[in-house]
Amino acid sequence: MKKLVSGERPRTIGILGGGQLGRMLIYCSCKLGFQYLVLDPDPSAPARPLANHFIQGSLYDSHALQQLLKQSDITTYEIEHIDTKPLLEAEQAGYLLYPSPRLLKVIQDKWVQKEILSKAGVPVPRFSLFDGQNPSNYPMVQKSRRGGYDGRGVRVLRSPADVPMDTPSILEEFVPFQKELAVIVARDRAGNTALYPVVEMVFNPDHNICDTVLAPARIPPQVAEEACRVARLAVETLDGVGVFGVELFLTAEGKVLLNEVAPRPHNSGHYTIEACLTSQFEQHIRAITGLPLGATDLIQPAVMLNLLGEPGETGVPFVEGFEESLSIPGVSIHLYGKREVRPFRKMGHVTILGATTEEVLRKAETIRGILKVRSVKEHL
Ligand SMILES: Nc1ncnc2c1ncn2[C@@H]1O[C@H](COP(=O)(O)OP(=O)(O)O)[C@@H](O)[C@H]1O
Ligand SMILES: [Mg+2]
Repeated sequence: MKKLVSGERPRTIGILGGGQLGRMLIYCSCKLGFQYLVLDPDPSAPARPLANHFIQGSLYDSHALQQLLKQSDITTYEIEHIDTKPLLEAEQAGYLLYPSPRLLKVIQDKWVQKEILSKAGVPVPRFSLFDGQNPSNYPMVQKSRRGGYDGRGVRVLRSPADVPMDTPSILEEFVPFQKELAVIVARDRAGNTALYPVVEMVFNPDHNICDTVLAPARIPPQVAEEACRVARLAVETLDGVGVFGVELFLTAEGKVLLNEVAPRPHNSGHYTIEACLTSQFEQHIRAITGLPLGATDLIQPAVMLNLLGEPGETGVPFVEGFEESLSIPGVSIHLYGKREVRPFRKMGHVTILGATTEEVLRKAETIRGILKVRSVKEHL
C-alpha cells in the first residue's frame, strides 16, 4: 500500500477475484477516475480486459496477494470464499481492506453469522447446529456452514428418507415463504447508510439460481419498511463497510426473516446499473474510498433476468435473439465475456425498464422467450 498523505484520495483499487462482479465494479466506477488491479487465477477472467493491471494467481497464493495489497491504495473482494487469515494479518499491518476480513470471517460460517445476527435482535428462522442425527421433525433445511453458494450446500430434508449431508452444517426450520426479498445496503466508513428499494427474487426450481429480480417488490409499504429495518440492522451489527446484499424471507404471516448477508454487490442489485441514480457497484467504490454515498432512488420499475447457459450447451457461447432483444426499448444486455458456456452458468444478465411493473413483466416474458445463451456448435 502506498502511503496516502492526509486528505489524499485513494487512486488504485485492488480487487480479489476477477469475475463478473469485479468486471461491473470496474465499468460502473471507472468514470470516477480510479485505477484497478485485479487478482484471479483465470487468465480469461471477466474483469481482466477492464483492469489496468492483472495479476494471474490463486486467491490463496500469499505472494500474489502481497503484490495486490502493496500496489493498491485500498483492497476489496468480489467473492467471499477466500482465506481470511492473510487478510486479517494485512489489516493488522495497516492495509486498507473493505469490508473488513473480520466481518468476512463471520459471514463465511453460516452458524456464526446467524448466531451474531440473532443475538443482536435480527429476526432469523429457528436454527441449530447439525449433530449428525436425523432431525426430529420435517421439513428442515440443512445448510453447510461453509463454502455454499447458489444453492450448493443447501438441502431440504422432507422426510427420514432424505439422508442429511455429512458435513459441518446447521439445521434450519423450513420457511414456507410467500416471497424472497432482498435489499442492497450501502454503509460508508463513517457509518452512514443508504438503502436501495426492496426487490423480489424469483428462483428457478430446476437449479436454485435466482433468475428474476423485480424492483420494486410488490409488497405493502409497512413490509418494505420492516425489510429495510432488518437489512440495516444486520449490516450495522456486522459493522459492514461497502455494499451488502441482504436476502430475506417474507413469511406467509407477513413477517420478515433474514436469510443471509452477502458481503459484496449482489445479483439482486444488478438492476441498479440502469434503474437507480447510483449503481450498487459505484456505491461500493464510493463507500470504501470515503466518498459520499450516492442517491439510491429508483428511476423506473425494472426486471433483471439472469442469462444462464441453456441446458445441454457447452462450448463457445452464442447469444440467440441478441439483436431482436436489443431492439426492444428499455432493454439493456450485459454479457460477462466468459469464453465458455455451460448449462446454468451465469453468462450475463438483462435489465428491462418500463413505466409500470406490468409493462416490465410483459417485456421480460418476451425476452425470456427469445434470448438464449447456447454454444456455437449448434449454429455452424
Ligand atoms: N429456511 C429455509 N426455508 C425455506 N427455503 C430456504 C430456507 N433457507 C434457504 N432456502 C432456499 O434455498 C436458497 C439458498 O439458500 P441460502 O441460504 O441463501 O444459500 P446460498 O448460500 O446457496 O445462497 C434460498 O434462496 C431459498 O430459496
Ligand atoms: Mg443465498
